[in-house]
Amino acid sequence: MGTAPDAGQLMTMLLKLVDVKKTIEVGVFTGYSLLLTALTIPEDGKIIAIDLNRDSYEIGLPVIKRAGVDHKIDFREAEALPVLDQLLKDVKIGYLIIFIFFFNVFLYFLIFMWNLLSPTRSKPII
Ligand SMILES: C[S@@+](CC[C@H](N)C(=O)[O-])C[C@H]1O[C@@H](n2cnc3c(N)ncnc32)[C@H](O)[C@@H]1O
Repeated sequence: MGTAPDAGQLMTMLLKLVDVKKTIEVGVFTGYSLLLTALTIPEDGKIIAIDLNRDSYEIGLPVIKRAGVDHKIDFREAEALPVLDQLLKDVKIGYLIIFIFFFNVFLYFLIFMWNLLSPTRSKPII
């Protein structure tokens, strides 16, 4: 597991906020973030999961299967860059999706900062 649990929670929150259906995961390892993504996206969602090493993915695969989300995963044992290059050639709209995703994340960041720096914001209860 290479993703911290709190980072995993943030990731699932972002996936829900942007209402993601298709994702690409680079660096699967045993599949912790992959499992979180597969559990979060809709039933007909798809994940292209890329890793150099299939062995580590197969350690986590029984858990992914037990969660009933393995049908959403298209695992590719490969170096990520050539696979990403090919995906962008196949689906030009990919650029648009990446742009929209980052635009939305940027927008949420601006709203968050606006609230944080606003002099009228409510004080945190600590
Ligand atoms: C930190 S781990 C990923 C952790 C995982 N996301 C999780 O939540 O447990 C990094 C993974 O990236 C893979 N990796 C590193 N360089 C890569 C590359 N160029 N292409 C594809 N996979 C790569 C490694 O094999 C390793 O499994």
